[in-house]
Amino acid sequence: MRHLISPLDLSLEELEELLTLGQDIMNHPEKYAHVCEGKKLATLFYEPSTRTRLSFESAMLSLGGQVLGFSSADSSSAAKGESVADTIRVISCYADICAMRHPKEGAPTVAAMHASIPVINAGDGGHNHPTQTLTDLLTIKTLTGRLDHMTVGMCGDLKFGRTVHSLINALVRYPDVKFVLISPEELRIPSYLRKEVLDAGNISYLETDRLEENLPDLDILYMTRVQRERFFNEEDYIRLKDSFILDAAKLQYAKKDMYVLHPLPRVNEISTEVDNDPRAVYFKQAQFGVYIRMALIIKLLEVEIPC
Ligand code: CP
Repeated sequence: MRHLISPLDLSLEELEELLTLGQDIMNHPEKYAHVCEGKKLATLFYEPSTRTRLSFESAMLSLGGQVLGFSSADSSSAAKGESVADTIRVISCYADICAMRHPKEGAPTVAAMHASIPVINAGDGGHNHPTQTLTDLLTIKTLTGRLDHMTVGMCGDLKFGRTVHSLINALVRYPDVKFVLISPEELRIPSYLRKEVLDAGNISYLETDRLEENLPDLDILYMTRVQRERFFNEEDYIRLKDSFILDAAKLQYAKKDMYVLHPLPRVNEISTEVDNDPRAVYFKQAQFGVYIRMALIIKLLEVEIPC
């Protein structure tokens, strides 16, 4: 039985297989419409979500399966003090696979240790968000045709943004990917990522607080919101929240074929005037999230894929 807790749980070969399957599902959805008939997905969300929970549910329904779950800790027995370990033992009796989002880093790992069904990490604290990374990789690969030889700008809250951490971990495995890490000083990437992933892997990266002057070099710009829910102090959040706002004027400095991604939700960091620019692909990215989650469910449940 396999779980997906970190993007590194997948070998490069498995990752490529998933992306290829995601693209096939995108092009031939009817082929996959019944492959999970009789199977159930549980969504265990201890933290708010729109895209991840609903795209998982949409994915399972599009595969012919069924869904059950809860969308907040308050509406589950966690509110009465039930542990993640006990919850997952029970859910293993009700469903064939589950996706868990939890504010505590490592909670899906604990769940996987006590589960008898595959557990998918749907975001744990400021740590990892592997299925967002799969979504991001499918988006980049489908739109540019590659995941190597590119300069990726990541902008915003690089300290608490789990999507950034997971995406860096995934992209360093491809040749000649350079990073431009754009954030206020206080919101730079965690030191473990800098030392153990970028420095240790001899990856080319720049840490900067300048968006405009670096825009012309980028093939991908990955914008992120400042994560209010991870701040200890509201004053710091208010001071930092609008550090970077991408608008049409700034986008003039970018390449004509650069793509702007954002895991969403957006707050102020991308002006709505950017939405109609053909380089803005964040809503398309949310759609790709359904295809890659369909591919992941198929792989983890080991259901037969039609020819
Ligand atoms: N990208 C993402 O994780 O969005 P949600 O928080 O809405 O699930």
